[in-house]
Amino acid sequence: MTVTNDIIYVGVNDHAIDLFEGQYDVPNGMAYNSYVIMDEKIAVMDTVDKNFTHEWLDNLANALNGRKPDYLVVQHMEPDHSANIVNFTKTYPDATIVSSSKAFTMMKNFFGKDFEENRIVVAEGDTLSLGKHTLNFVAAPMVHWPEVIMTYDSCDKVLFSADGFGKFGALDVEEDWACEARRYYFGIVGKYGAQVQAVLKKAAGLDIQIICPLHGPVLSENLGYYLNLYNIWSSYGVESDGIVIAYTSVYGHTKKAVELLADKLKANGCPKVAVTDLARDDMAEAVEDAFRYGKIVLATTTYNAEIFPFMREFINHLVERGFKNKTVGLIENGSWAPLAAKTMKGMLEGCKNLTFTDTTVKILSALNDESKAQIEALADELCMDYKAQKSETANKNDLTALFKIGYGLYVVTSNDGKKDNGLIVNTISQVTSSPNRVAVCINKDNYSHHVIKQTGIMNVNCLSVEAPFSVFECFGFRSGRTVDKFENEKDNLLRSDNGLVFLSKYINAFMSLKVEQYVDLDTHGMFICTVTEARVLSDKETMTYTYYQANVKPKPETEGKKGYVCKVCGYVYEGDELPEDFVCPLCKHGAADFEPIA
Ligand code: FEO
Repeated sequence: MTVTNDIIYVGVNDHAIDLFEGQYDVPNGMAYNSYVIMDEKIAVMDTVDKNFTHEWLDNLANALNGRKPDYLVVQHMEPDHSANIVNFTKTYPDATIVSSSKAFTMMKNFFGKDFEENRIVVAEGDTLSLGKHTLNFVAAPMVHWPEVIMTYDSCDKVLFSADGFGKFGALDVEEDWACEARRYYFGIVGKYGAQVQAVLKKAAGLDIQIICPLHGPVLSENLGYYLNLYNIWSSYGVESDGIVIAYTSVYGHTKKAVELLADKLKANGCPKVAVTDLARDDMAEAVEDAFRYGKIVLATTTYNAEIFPFMREFINHLVERGFKNKTVGLIENGSWAPLAAKTMKGMLEGCKNLTFTDTTVKILSALNDESKAQIEALADELCMDYKAQKSETANKNDLTALFKIGYGLYVVTSNDGKKDNGLIVNTISQVTSSPNRVAVCINKDNYSHHVIKQTGIMNVNCLSVEAPFSVFECFGFRSGRTVDKFENEKDNLLRSDNGLVFLSKYINAFMSLKVEQYVDLDTHGMFICTVTEARVLSDKETMTYTYYQANVKPKPETEGKKGYVCKVCGYVYEGDELPEDFVCPLCKHGAADFEPIA
């Protein structure tokens, strides 16, 4: 088979192999690829597995057509590619071995010699001219061993990619590339995503028309497809929408739970549910699925006060390959002391950026109404995005979407001519940059609205994440008409050029604004302002509404109470129905900002 006019394929197919690398099922066999580049000088790219010495040497002799090779380029020393180096040198004693320094050390360890008398040691950036063709060597450590080099032929624009872009399966069997390439990648190279990313960055600078890997087919069309998949895999991204359920079941009860969950996920619009029985299905297939999809559910029994062995093995495979960036749901079963969820979570502790679902399903021996409800809740949680994406299943009037708009929190200071005032505002945004204009929205019920409408000036103090709850109590929950919010700081007040106060602490910047336009928005007034002064006081992050909710606001005291709680300040309204026009007596937010006490 010719790859280009000058490059000939001389590899072999292996259908006798039982397990590749002693562990991977390869129902369609395996290919060990080798290539010859014919030029003024001839280079052979790698050898093949030990069981194919003569078939390979025959292929090589046919390709050479009476000529002798000048170089054997050894890109990778794993025996499926290096086993015939010595046989090659016996057949072609004048040829020079070209490889990395680490590879020659490995040759000494494997064969007892490192070919010192007839070798060229190459490293990143080195080149070897064959005549028309120049080989450019690219270091690719840990893709898949430390000695690996890849080789770029700048004449035919071919990248010899060693194990990269390889797959399981012999070349005389037609099958989908991605399925077996993905299983191969995550099984064999999966741990080394960062190193693969480094090689992809180098490859991005080359004009590559053809990729010649050491396993699987030569890739010569639509290379963007393969490069994109390698980029997703090596960056631990999500390749496909869907959810994997990996489970073990001893007497079938956990399996029943998994089947129920799979049905509910499908009913909720999940585009693909991949279910795998870890005791019976191919473990490598389960591992590739775990990395392929963005969400996974692990379901297993408690066993020896731990988890079932196949689940432990599976999680170990994930952890040692750098499993990350996923949503994880857990189902545990246990007849007297379920511990599986805790054990699984503990095993995944070191994995980065995993989001565990709020719902964990606990089965006590067999499914009951309670665990069925938990499965329903888990399915809802996992399918929130799928449901919302589809027109038929989406709630198109979910106004909690508005809470997803990001807001900062600010203290707006003003002065009514007698005293300084300040209030908490979250509705501030820059609306133009030339000139700089800032829009500030304030509820008409607030005294500050009245003051600013009259004076036409204000200071916007940007609260930083250091601001404690007392700042919100001081400026947020009471009116400047009746209290002096700066009473305790009278002697230490700082003022900007417009004469208004700016806060001495807990802010990272302030701006003095001059009102240019006013827009009446019924309940609120919008002040469109120009900036007359602006100072930055620290590099601390700005306090956002989300940060305030999660880290600053004390948990409301709802224990034993029935009714509604204000999401802004924690005020509790006790009663069965919250009136639609209810306004929080503390922070003045309306009924929309209340939620029922759970
Ligand atoms: Fe195909 Fe890492 O050997």
